[in-house]
Amino acid sequence: MHSSTPNTRREFLMAATVALPGIAALTMAATTSGDSRLIFSEGNVADLRLKNRLVRSATAENAWRATEMTEQGINLYRDLAGGGVGLIITGYMAVMPEGRSSDLQTRIDHDRFIAGLRRIPAVVHETSKDCKVVAQIGHTGMQTQVTEPVGPTITPWPSTKTRPRALTTREVQEIVASFAQAARRAKEAGFDGVQIHGAHGYLISSFLSPYTNTRTDQYSGSTEKRAAIVREIVEKARKLVGPDFPILIKMNCDDLVEGGIDIHSFPALANEIERAGVQAVEVSGNNPVREKISGDDDQSYFLKYAQKLALKVPVIVTGGNRSVERLEQIAKAGAPQFFGFARPLIREPGLPARWKEGRGTPEATCISCNRCIRGFAKGMFTRCHVTELNL
Ligand SMILES: Cc1cc2nc3c(=O)[nH]c(=O)nc-3n(C[C@H](O)[C@H](O)[C@H](O)COP(=O)(O)O)c2cc1C
Repeated sequence: MHSSTPNTRREFLMAATVALPGIAALTMAATTSGDSRLIFSEGNVADLRLKNRLVRSATAENAWRATEMTEQGINLYRDLAGGGVGLIITGYMAVMPEGRSSDLQTRIDHDRFIAGLRRIPAVVHETSKDCKVVAQIGHTGMQTQVTEPVGPTITPWPSTKTRPRALTTREVQEIVASFAQAARRAKEAGFDGVQIHGAHGYLISSFLSPYTNTRTDQYSGSTEKRAAIVREIVEKARKLVGPDFPILIKMNCDDLVEGGIDIHSFPALANEIERAGVQAVEVSGNNPVREKISGDDDQSYFLKYAQKLALKVPVIVTGGNRSVERLEQIAKAGAPQFFGFARPLIREPGLPARWKEGRGTPEATCISCNRCIRGFAKGMFTRCHVTELNL
């Protein structure tokens, strides 16, 4: 940490007031009458009452061995829960063996995994009674290292180039059923909800995208039909989990390819997803893990897309959220109200508590160098290599 970093909450607030006169009134209020900041106030995501607006975005762990998570993985969830975040979304879990990305990916594709999965919500709820945890469920589609790449058509996802096999209609229906069963297992394991992984070119994302989905069956042809896979998953899952179990989605706002989802088509697609019964939308996009985020312009890189939405359900924006003051200003301005973090919490699981208490810098200390994601791609446990190397 820099030597000029303020150490106490008072020093932090004073420094912030000098640096950003616009938030002086806000920080003054925080000093005199407790914490009045919006992002540290309670909020609802579906039926989940969250203690603040800070969400740990799904971050795959590489910590699954056979039928359970390693102690290292469980400790990661203990640290996150103890670190003050309101909602934890787990790393993606495979809904069927054919939808795994690697042998180290967490599995939720069979009842024999429920006992091992139970340890994740158990450690979160034991560590912090008011921290919620949602299981991210997904199918890797064409982005797999261990199974056959599949997709809506044979069109490769632009950033991966692997040519998939096109799924039959019957196979799509089996995948839908697997998502529903995965939601049931998540509920039985004690999770507070599920999030469908509908982003980053994985299977659901490739069905939502008009670039990869030019099928001729009921799953393509219009925005509504491309969203049909999500509608069917929600309908089938609802029958198994009942009316109160939250079902969220993470989706691409921009596929960054000509003919894919973009800033113009995204709001209509999000409306369809809301109509499908999803109870919160996390906004991400292609090239989700951008490097070297420094100035304001680099931060919160999907914000302008999230701000185009007019949904009734809550919106979480993820990608490059780094400054607590900036996020407070965004929340105060109206929307979105929830902010997702992956790399900053790999570096500092206690970041939400540090920000709340006003300790240290109002920026995340993550330098967005992406050593974590490169290590993950090599099969290493997901962690901050900068902290480890003491850089
Ligand atoms: C090591 C690592 C693993 C990730 N795993 C997932 C995942 O399982 N599911 C997912 O939706 N996104 C995953 N992401 C993407 C993050 O959730 C997030 O969208 C992205 O890192 C941008 O947010 P950030 O700037 O706060 O890191 C992962 C990111 C990293 C760095």
